[in-house]
Amino acid sequence: MKPSVFMCCVMCSVVVVPACWSHVCLLSPPQRGSMMGINKPGAPDCGLENATCGGRGAQANTVILRSGQNFTVIVQKNLNHFNMSNPGNFNISLLDEKAMKYTHLAMIPDTSDPSLTLYSAMVKIPDGIAKQAYALQVVYNTMDPSPPLFYQCSDVTVADMDDTLKFVPLTRAKPLVV
Ligand SMILES: *[C@@H]1O[C@H](CO)[C@@H](O)[C@H](O)[C@H]1NC(C)=O
Ligand SMILES: *[C@@H]1O[C@H](CO)[C@@H](O)[C@H](O)[C@H]1NC(C)=O
Ligand SMILES: *[C@@H]1O[C@H](CO)[C@@H](O)[C@H](O)[C@H]1NC(C)=O
Ligand SMILES: *[C@@H]1O[C@H](CO)[C@@H](O)[C@H](O)[C@H]1NC(C)=O
Repeated sequence: MKPSVFMCCVMCSVVVVPACWSHVCLLSPPQRGSMMGINKPGAPDCGLENATCGGRGAQANTVILRSGQNFTVIVQKNLNHFNMSNPGNFNISLLDEKAMKYTHLAMIPDTSDPSLTLYSAMVKIPDGIAKQAYALQVVYNTMDPSPPLFYQCSDVTVADMDDTLKFVPLTRAKPLVV
């Protein structure tokens, strides 16, 4: 490859590609993998294009949600690609990855707000949903062909209220006898 051609490719990948991509990060619950560099638009950890979780497999999870509980999901539009004529959305679901079964939780409309804007939605973990591990997935539907969809997942476990209250509340601790 001639140096001039090589330079062009470098320039293209630096200048053109970030301008075409959109990025989404999942802040709460925390996304799989890392969140390095999310304070700048175009963070590589937020530009995952492969269904259904950006190619990132399940990891040991610590976030426990109760069925029937409300929970605030927070996503960051890391790189804006708002389509004024056909606005997109951030589509949030609980995904049973073994059965590939989706439970829809919320949809947040995309807005003309700039890169790094935070969007949040209060979602209700459905009553009676199976108690097991899920991927809490956000899909950024950009309505833009280059490319149209960005994925992010977080590992969560849905448990019963009883399962998550097996600790001694501070107010009920016995006074220390000396
Ligand atoms: C998507 O998956 C393909 C094939 O597994 C891989 O080569 C590519 O790097 C992935 N792209 C992204 C953005 O994760
Ligand atoms: C949002 O996700 C649900 C699955 O939870 C899916 O059925 C629906 O088609 C999605 N909506 C859009 C606009 O992508
Ligand atoms: C829980 O979330 C649902 C759905 O978003 C909402 O309708 C309801 O008011 C919320 N309940 C509380 C106690 O915040
Ligand atoms: C916006 O959406 C329209 C309608 O789907 C599409 O034709 C157009 O290419 C999109 N614009 C951009 C900049 O992606």
